[in-house]
Amino acid sequence: MRGRSYCDKMKNGLRRLLTVAVAAVLCMGMFSGCEQKPEVEEPKLILGFSQLGSESAWRIGNTLDIEEKAEKYGINLMFDNANQKQENQIAAIRRFIAYKVDVIAFSPIVEEGWDNVLTEAKNAGIPVILVDRDINTEEEGLTTCLIGADFYNEGVMAGEYLIRKADSLGLDHVNIVEITGTEDSTPMRKRQAGFMDTIGSDGRMEVMESINGDFLRSRGAECMRELLSKYGDEIDVVYSHNDDMTLGALTEIEAAGLVPGQDIVIISIDGGQEAIDVLKEGRINCVVECTPMLGNALMNTALKLKNGEEVEAMIHPNERFFSDEQDLSNLSPRGY
Ligand code: AHR
Repeated sequence: MRGRSYCDKMKNGLRRLLTVAVAAVLCMGMFSGCEQKPEVEEPKLILGFSQLGSESAWRIGNTLDIEEKAEKYGINLMFDNANQKQENQIAAIRRFIAYKVDVIAFSPIVEEGWDNVLTEAKNAGIPVILVDRDINTEEEGLTTCLIGADFYNEGVMAGEYLIRKADSLGLDHVNIVEITGTEDSTPMRKRQAGFMDTIGSDGRMEVMESINGDFLRSRGAECMRELLSKYGDEIDVVYSHNDDMTLGALTEIEAAGLVPGQDIVIISIDGGQEAIDVLKEGRINCVVECTPMLGNALMNTALKLKNGEEVEAMIHPNERFFSDEQDLSNLSPRGY
C-alpha cells in the first residue's frame, strides 16, 4: 500500500465519494416513491358558497360571519363574490359542480333565472342551500332549504310602527316615499308587500313614490335628492329598505335644511351599528332588525345534508325591532 501513488489515492477517494452520493440519491428516490404524507385532517365537508356582492354593511357582516363559522366548524369553504352580477353567481355554481363540492350554498341576487344551473347541480347529486334570499323556479325541489330572514314580517313591523307614530303625532294624512332594495330581489318584494299590506287599510297613508335604491348608500342619496326635488317638504315619511340607503338619504335631507327624525319620520331595516347609533341620536325613528348572522345555521344544515339527514325547509332567525319608543342605552354592540 505504501507504494500507492498520489494519483491512486485521489481515485480511491473520489470513488468513495461517488458511492456515498449515489447511495444518497437512491435513498431519496426510495423515500419519494412511497412519500410519507403529513397527517392532515380531512375537511368534514367542502362547501361552495356564492355571495351576491358587498353592497352593504349587512352583506359584509354576513360574509365575515360565514367565513368565521366555516373555520369554527372545520368546513372547507370555497367562497366566491359575484359583485352584484347574476351571471357571476351562475358561473361560480358551475365551478362548484365541476369541483364536486359536497354542498352548494348561495345568496341569489334576484329571484328568477336559476332553473338551468340548479338542474345541473341536481343532476350532479349536489344539494343546494339558499342563504338570505329566495328564488322562483319552474321545477320544485331544486334546493333543499332557505336560511334567512322573514322579510315580509320586517315590512309588517315597519308598517305597524308607522301607524303607531302617526297616532302619537295626531296625523290625519301621511305622505310616504319608499326607497326600495334591488328590483326583483326577495327583500325588496317582501318588505314592500308586508309594509303595504299593513298600512293599506289605513286611510291616512299615501305612498307618493317608490324608487329603486339598489341597497346602495350612494343610490339612497341619489334617490332622496330626486324625491326632495319633486316633493320637497311635503314628504312626511321615508321608508327605506336598508340602512345603507337610509344613511345616504339622511345626508340629502340635512343638506335640504330639513331635520330627519323630526321633519321627516325615518324608517329603516337591518340594524347595523351605524344606523343604531343614528337612531340613538334621534335622526332615525325606527330600525327593523335583519340579522346577517346566518353562519351557524348554514354550517349545521350543510353538515346534516352531507350526512343524509332531513333539514327544515325554512329557517328564520329571531329578529328584533328598535325604535324611538324604547330605551336603547344598554343595547350591546351589533357586530355589523
Ligand atoms: O338580503 C338582505 C338585504 O341585502 C339587506 O337588508 C341589505 O342590507 C342587503 O344588501
